[in-house]
Amino acid sequence: MIKVFNKYISAKKWLITEDSWEPIKQTLYETLFTLGNGFIGSRGILEEAPYDCYPGTYISGIFDSTGAQVAELVNMPDPVNFKIISTGEKIDVVGMDVVSHKRILDMKTGTLFRRTVFQDTKKRKYDYNSVRFFSMDEEHLAVMKILLKPLDDEADITIETAIDASVTNRGVLTEGRKNHTETIELTKIDNVIYRCVQTYENKIQTAYASYLSAKIGRKRMPIPERTYGLHIKKGQTVHFEKYISIYTSFDVGQAHLKDTAAKTVKRAKTCGFDRLFNNNRVAWNKKWRIANINIKGNPESDKALRFNIYHLLIAAREENGRSSIGAKALTSEGYRGHIFWDTEIFMFPFFAYTNPKIAENMLMYRYHRLNAAREIAKEKGYKGAMFPWESADTGKEVTPTWYKDLDGSIIKIKTDKMEHHITSDVAYAVSHYYNITGNEKFMVYYGLEMMLETARFWASRAEYNKRTKTYDIKNVIGPDEFHEDVTNNAYTNIMAKWNVLRAIKLYRKLKSKYPEEITNLSKNIGVTKDEMRHWAHIASSITLPKVNRDKVIEQFKGYFMKRYIKIKSLDSNFMPYYPHKLSLDFAGKTQFVKQADVIMLLYLLSDHFTLRQKINNYKFYNSRTLHKSSLSPAIYSLTALEAGDIAGALQYFTVVANADLKDIHGSPADGIHAASLGGTWQAAVNGFAGIRLRRKILCINPRLPGDWKELEANLYWKGRLLSIKMSANKVTIFIKSKKKDMLDLRIFGSLKRVPVNKKVAFYR
Ligand code: BGC
Repeated sequence: MIKVFNKYISAKKWLITEDSWEPIKQTLYETLFTLGNGFIGSRGILEEAPYDCYPGTYISGIFDSTGAQVAELVNMPDPVNFKIISTGEKIDVVGMDVVSHKRILDMKTGTLFRRTVFQDTKKRKYDYNSVRFFSMDEEHLAVMKILLKPLDDEADITIETAIDASVTNRGVLTEGRKNHTETIELTKIDNVIYRCVQTYENKIQTAYASYLSAKIGRKRMPIPERTYGLHIKKGQTVHFEKYISIYTSFDVGQAHLKDTAAKTVKRAKTCGFDRLFNNNRVAWNKKWRIANINIKGNPESDKALRFNIYHLLIAAREENGRSSIGAKALTSEGYRGHIFWDTEIFMFPFFAYTNPKIAENMLMYRYHRLNAAREIAKEKGYKGAMFPWESADTGKEVTPTWYKDLDGSIIKIKTDKMEHHITSDVAYAVSHYYNITGNEKFMVYYGLEMMLETARFWASRAEYNKRTKTYDIKNVIGPDEFHEDVTNNAYTNIMAKWNVLRAIKLYRKLKSKYPEEITNLSKNIGVTKDEMRHWAHIASSITLPKVNRDKVIEQFKGYFMKRYIKIKSLDSNFMPYYPHKLSLDFAGKTQFVKQADVIMLLYLLSDHFTLRQKINNYKFYNSRTLHKSSLSPAIYSLTALEAGDIAGALQYFTVVANADLKDIHGSPADGIHAASLGGTWQAAVNGFAGIRLRRKILCINPRLPGDWKELEANLYWKGRLLSIKMSANKVTIFIKSKKKDMLDLRIFGSLKRVPVNKKVAFYR
């Protein structure tokens, strides 16, 4: 443990630790130890900001495209750097010897603790301790404490701490580093340092106010300076406290930014560390009370799952649609902070089941950009709304069109032109949200409009084929990005069909209940019954994929004719080695699959396929998939389980749950693999815990692997909170509900009417 902070630190199952200083793992831990609260994400850098560290501070929804091919998530000024120079030597893991080093991420309170013992060139030791958190209670507030004790000699120290606006976005090869903000005000208000920066393009302002104080003995004094000198006696401890508040012009009017930021920080320092820490803890407890999952019997899986949930919790914000979660959340700049289908298909279910308000926000992000999606469709000659493959602030397409590789070659990116399944993925999330929450108001005012406009897009996207008398969808990339520009990708076609038919069904259902509202909606967007009839005709005639004798679905037209190459060897995670010199071009000529594609379809539209189909397709594609995307293993875990391969399901689960913790994909500088966070949750809850929506009924049919003795989870279902505890042969449920009613659930395969507000047990 870290002695001086022991009283703040939670039990072991909540802690992720770094036990020694290994420079090679610096970037990894910065990503893993990112702190945040949905509004802001701050990479877990060491406060001294050593050489080669990467300070990253990201505010949800702040993008800028200055100097970049497309808009990117801005790396905002860093508020946590804190440098101490003692008699000319910087107290720093690179500059000094590290005698011991430990950091602890306490996931229960979103707090990062540290103790490092340093030794300078004159063999004098320093005991350094720090703690910091970005409050979950007040999203605009961050608090730090730093304790320094010279152990062998007195010390004259100079501290340097600032809201560091010199940070840049890392940029890509052809763009280099970029600064997206300029300081428009730097001043002092009483003892508070105030800095306001503004993005170049959209002039979004962000105000930082920070208050620093130091205490030696009983005396605490403010330090309103960027650098400051202090004398510390041998064995004496200096206690620094830094309070930081951060507001953007999205949060408060520009005219009030300064006042609001300064006031918050002044109030914070009057409250003091302990009270703020406690408020933060209470706010986190509220989140964990619903989101936590306990797996008894396997502490590694238990902790790994919790780590993934921690990162989901710091990624999302309950505000109305200004932003959503990018592929790397707020942990770094991979994919320039853009939002992909990763959000709706991978992360979304966690929120829909555990925090429907956030799930709604994620959908509202798309709804607010429906006009931009309409524009995209129009530009490309289609109707309705077509969501961009990569999205940022405006909802316009922001996929870069090309990039330069390290070997100098120019790689053209085609996903924006062809990876059109994103549109039905968004529709899928809308429908999924409705199934889980039953929120009709949302559907009437927002959801149905998205369903109809996406359906309209697909009806215009499909092309009539005179020969087959069916509708083809040509020139697409399915989830498997190894095969570009294909025709009739099974995933794309069947999801498109589903999108259209689901939209029509929802229209009919909602129209009968809310005739006036739905009539208005149809008028507003100009949808007529005739048009819908036409869509239904197209959807029912969409070209379906070829299915071979073994019921294997052909991934796209011509896939079966591609060259089959056997996957020869697996790495220590049971993942296939990437074949030597397999270029993207060559991969396209083979049956190698980058990531779950047909398997993705079988998972999402599970009710539409038979068990035999799942088993056979799983076997077939499992031996062809290279899992070159972190999105793949979770879906394979889920399908393996359905296909009865529990050992395989567990292997895949272990990979996805440890994707970041064990740095399985090897790109920690880019940030956390946010889709795989959500994939882990789905593999545990919708997979092993067997909590699945099937034919509109929530089913609970656990298949806990190996040593998982018990699993406990909570989730919302149609506005009621279900607390579920399960072992192999027993499920106990407590349904909290305001209404006195019964809930139909399918438990261990049979339909049960479960009473509310009463603990009930079921046996296999
Ligand atoms: C995957 C996509 C994913 C994107 C962002 C790509 O490598 O193939 O499916 O959306 O990464 O995570």
